Amino acid sequence: MKLPNMQEAKKRTNKEVEYITITDHKEPLFQNQKFFLKTYGCQMNVHDSEQIKNILLNLGLTETDKLEEAYVIILNTCAIRENAHDKVFGYLGRIKHLKKEHPEKIVAIGGCMSQEESIANEILTKHPYINIVFGTHNIHELKNLLKESLNKSQIIEVPSIEGCVYENIKYERDSKVKAWVNIMYGCDKFCTYCIVPYTRGKERSRKMADIIKEVKELEKQGYKEITLLGQNVNAYGHDLSPQINFATLLKEVAKTNIKRIRFVTSHPWNFTDEMIDIIAKYDNIMPYIHLPLQSGSNRILKLMGRRYTKEEYINLYNKMKEKIPNVAITTDIIVGFPGETEEDFNETLDVVNKCQYDGAYTFIYSKRQGTPASKMKDNVTLEEKEQRLYKLNELVNKYSKEANEKYLGKVVPVLIEGISEKDSDKLFGYTDTMKLVNVKTNKNKIGQIINVKITDAKSFSLDGTLE
Ligand code: 5AD
Ligand code: SF4
Repeated sequence: MKLPNMQEAKKRTNKEVEYITITDHKEPLFQNQKFFLKTYGCQMNVHDSEQIKNILLNLGLTETDKLEEAYVIILNTCAIRENAHDKVFGYLGRIKHLKKEHPEKIVAIGGCMSQEESIANEILTKHPYINIVFGTHNIHELKNLLKESLNKSQIIEVPSIEGCVYENIKYERDSKVKAWVNIMYGCDKFCTYCIVPYTRGKERSRKMADIIKEVKELEKQGYKEITLLGQNVNAYGHDLSPQINFATLLKEVAKTNIKRIRFVTSHPWNFTDEMIDIIAKYDNIMPYIHLPLQSGSNRILKLMGRRYTKEEYINLYNKMKEKIPNVAITTDIIVGFPGETEEDFNETLDVVNKCQYDGAYTFIYSKRQGTPASKMKDNVTLEEKEQRLYKLNELVNKYSKEANEKYLGKVVPVLIEGISEKDSDKLFGYTDTMKLVNVKTNKNKIGQIINVKITDAKSFSLDGTLE
């Protein structure tokens, strides 16, 4: 048994990163059985689930979207905010019930929540029906854990380590059109509200050659778009020897023939001019940047440990708008950070008014055990925080609608990804600027970049017709 430990998870040493090539062979231990996999949280988790899926398929399992049908049930969890926790434990109620009638079923919990000390303890003491708890560092061991669980009632195997880089990971990708490509893992920024540096380990980069190889293979398989993934992609390469930077990686990826390149997420603190120039220069790097603001108040930014001021952020924003033609910029904002006053909040609104974002993900601050902010005095009531969120959302939505309205009547290239969930007569895809577009056209257009004339603009999507 290995329980997670926040003290250990916080440690950063100078130890060299270990690069490990993994192999996984088909071993149909669970033939004729099904698995159910539920994923919470960010793109990193979604991509991890593609790895988990591959491991399960190699064991002979097939996927079902019906919980009751499954023999193996896996929840890939998120820890970023308290409500993610509530959702998982709410869902576990249903699973507990199912396990009472079918004790032979195997239930496994993985992801960021597993890495939390308090959660592992809660499972250990209150949820004996959960068979396996694994973490973000040992996904590749899931096959062995599943095998082991056939003879054991509960396995908790959650290492709190700085982390390695695994190569040769196989994925069962959700899409045949666009793919995630990890370029680095972990985070060393330790923003005071954030649990990620504890759940995902230290910043460690994949070697550029391995990344380029993966991109080229994806291109050969017919993928049109790749998104380079990292908690803070700007930090790419500082740990490699010789050191390289994200701008260099971007340039090399752009030189492959892949049609569309995206990347998430960028910290405003070390977004360099070189990066901006490269994004502007290469047509296959999409003019879309997600640039988390978090707060517009210098006082709060300092308390958050964000390493930039409101003025520096706005300068960077303006530079991007100036240098990258047609760029769309979105953001993340937290309201109600401990001690946030009305004036602080107004500073945030001021930045939103100045930047007029294409879109924003907005959150109420959520206390995460073990983080520095969790010890800060928080005298803002939940009611006040909710009012601020409401006010912020109104403003943010106004600007995203305005940004979308600028597309009316224009003809834009859209990469068609699949059939629209809301209307099966329509297909959906994204513009280069990451605007969701629904369009009535032939199904054989899936996977193609087509020109669409925009006929209607809403806050969160566009409608169009084939040009
Ligand atoms: N409370 C609220 N929002 C948070 N985020 C990260 N940690 C917290 C927290 N403790 C938000 C940030 C981040 C996004 C992924 O989630 O805005 O950019
Ligand atoms: Fe969390 Fe800050 Fe790292 Fe983003 S940069 S993952 S907010 S600690």
